Amino acid sequence: MKQYIDELYENNDLGDEKLLYILENIDDNSKEYLVSKAHEIRMRTYGNKVFMRGLIEFTNYCKKNCEYCGIQGRNKNVERYRLTYDQIMECAKVGDRLGYKTYVLQGGEDPYFNDDRIVEIIKGIKSLFPNNAITLSLGERSYDSYKRLFDAGADRYLLRHETASKELYEWLHPGEVFGDRIKCLENLKEIGYQFGAGFMVGLPRQTKADLVKDLRFVKEIEPHMCGIGPFIPHADTKLKDFTAGTLEDTTTILALVRLLLPNVLLPATTALGSIDKVGREKGIKAGGNVVMPNLSPTDVREKYSLYDGKICTGDEAAECRKCIERRINNAGFEVAITRGDNVKWSQDNPDVLQYDSKIVDINGILGF
Ligand code: 5AD
Ligand code: FES
Repeated sequence: MKQYIDELYENNDLGDEKLLYILENIDDNSKEYLVSKAHEIRMRTYGNKVFMRGLIEFTNYCKKNCEYCGIQGRNKNVERYRLTYDQIMECAKVGDRLGYKTYVLQGGEDPYFNDDRIVEIIKGIKSLFPNNAITLSLGERSYDSYKRLFDAGADRYLLRHETASKELYEWLHPGEVFGDRIKCLENLKEIGYQFGAGFMVGLPRQTKADLVKDLRFVKEIEPHMCGIGPFIPHADTKLKDFTAGTLEDTTTILALVRLLLPNVLLPATTALGSIDKVGREKGIKAGGNVVMPNLSPTDVREKYSLYDGKICTGDEAAECRKCIERRINNAGFEVAITRGDNVKWSQDNPDVLQYDSKIVDINGILGF
């Protein structure tokens, strides 16, 4: 086992059979070794810095019916909401003051938010904060739509592939085609976004061999970002009786992804924080270098319920901001007040300002 981990550390790659061997046989000792190697790599690429993104969940309308997801279109128990343009600008202002230099605009696949409306939002944020980055997470759209949003100023796009097993993907997304999802990722890459793939760990029917497919998929497509979290059942879905993914399996996968993709932006996700009190801290220690605290207005938080037991639903943006910094520091890391681009991308785009010169005294604002 140690030999395989060393080989992965040296080459940033490892054959599928050996990856499978690691997943099937990892024990406490080898886990500790794996995590220490992932940590070494992250210190080399990103140091002890953790990037923050302000997450704005701006619509929970969705036309899709992903089996695992609590806000799937057919769930009649969801109280649907859309933030207005002004509410979104307000979130952006609060976020900037709290030191978030990247916004993630995330929503269900809501036809109301056509290209014109998203372009208006992108331009609005960019006119207020030209040096802040905008990440979109709006699901599947056409090439032309992705291109228009990119040309309007969007910097990054997150679209998890959810699982790299075609069979599992199509079971979890009835009527959807796995290849369409992958085509979207290829389009995002071609257009020039910093793009993010990602998947869930512990999905119903998911095998260790399926997880090896995920690892191989991300190694090959080489995303700038990779969002990985445990599956957590939602009571209103058909998958409500399945068990959640585990902290151990998820942090093993995070460490493996850090070793396979040394430069990747790797979030310690909210889902990981939701299955364990110190899940995000453990995710950071296993190679994670991004956190995405919630910036949405508190009155809509509970309505964006993808899975049961989601954390932070009652907390004001400033509380989440304080809480996250404390957690990052307790884990032995530091918050970075910056756009937090992928390190390789930054080298290729040296003209993009990483640090905003007018950074405010956030300690003053937060009352530390
Ligand atoms: N458990 C964990 N993660 C989920 N997501 C959606 N539903 C669940 C769930 N039940 C994840 C998906 C999606 C992201 C926004 O949230 O991977 O891409
Ligand atoms: Fe829309 Fe899951 S059903 S994101």
